[in-house]
Amino acid sequence: MTTALITGSTAGIGAAFARRLAAQGHNLVLVARDTKRLGEQATELHDRHGIEAEVLAADLATEEGIAAVEQRLGDRTHPVDLLVNNAGFGNKGRYLEVSMADELTMLKVHIEAVLRLTSAATESMRSRGRGGVINVASVAAFVPRGTYGASKAWVVQFTQGAARDLAGSGVRLMALCPGFVRTEFHQRAGMGTDNIPGWMWLDADKLVAAALADLARGKTVSIPDPRYKALMGVVKLTPRGLLGGVSSRTGRKYGPQ
Ligand SMILES: NC(=O)c1ccc[n+]([C@@H]2O[C@H](COP(=O)([O-])OP(=O)(O)OC[C@H]3O[C@@H](n4cnc5c(N)ncnc54)[C@H](OP(=O)(O)O)[C@@H]3O)[C@@H](O)[C@H]2O)c1
Repeated sequence: MTTALITGSTAGIGAAFARRLAAQGHNLVLVARDTKRLGEQATELHDRHGIEAEVLAADLATEEGIAAVEQRLGDRTHPVDLLVNNAGFGNKGRYLEVSMADELTMLKVHIEAVLRLTSAATESMRSRGRGGVINVASVAAFVPRGTYGASKAWVVQFTQGAARDLAGSGVRLMALCPGFVRTEFHQRAGMGTDNIPGWMWLDADKLVAAALADLARGKTVSIPDPRYKALMGVVKLTPRGLLGGVSSRTGRKYGPQ
């Protein structure tokens, strides 16, 4: 039996990873901040699928939180075979409307935590000659979209580079780039979603199934939906100035708190 560690496992895309991997018989290490929710999720997945679900409460915006998960990933007596770096969030407001503290928290969770957890996991995986890492980025990585898009662009570049450096080691790395997914993300960020057309919304369970299939195929970047694959094709051909205008408006309507 293999073990997967999922950050941000209690909601949205992370919860969809947890459901699917548990259904496939993987043991899980569930990471998020809300201890009560983690406990309930672990019990539910254990009861439904008969797997072992371990709970690790950690805030990845803090040094202690990152260190605790690093330590778990480095535990060679209980190896982790698949790491899903999924925890993330949006900030309410455009550039200069977001406080510097919030911008830096985003960099800590989206970049520092992803770098450190990927490194802790892959060191151990490389010594065993097998393992996988999925770093959840976004299609926002490919368009100008504030600190959020910039941090996700880092995730894509970093993951592709690390995947190349570890080629032949038995360790696979893949950046997952979803479009809009119905989760708690937009509500938590205080973002209105009325101006996002219905066809742009993805289902978290289908997204995760496609992502795991892409990892098995050896892809290093996954855009797991034909609509977004086509859209990203158009993005590549669109002038950056025009792209910045459209991207900065779409899905960034900030509703009342
Ligand atoms: N939804 C979308 O449209 C969309 C599109 C593209 C990419 N993404 C990316 O997908 C990932 C998952 O997003 P989602 O939409 O599933 O969000 P979500 O529904 O809001 O879930 C976020 C999860 O992350 C955890 N989390 C948040 N901050 C954390 C922290 N500081 N430390 C540890 N855990 C933390 C939350 O639990 P606690 O609050 O208990 O910690 C929760 O389990 C993110 O990286 C996001 O950027 C989302």
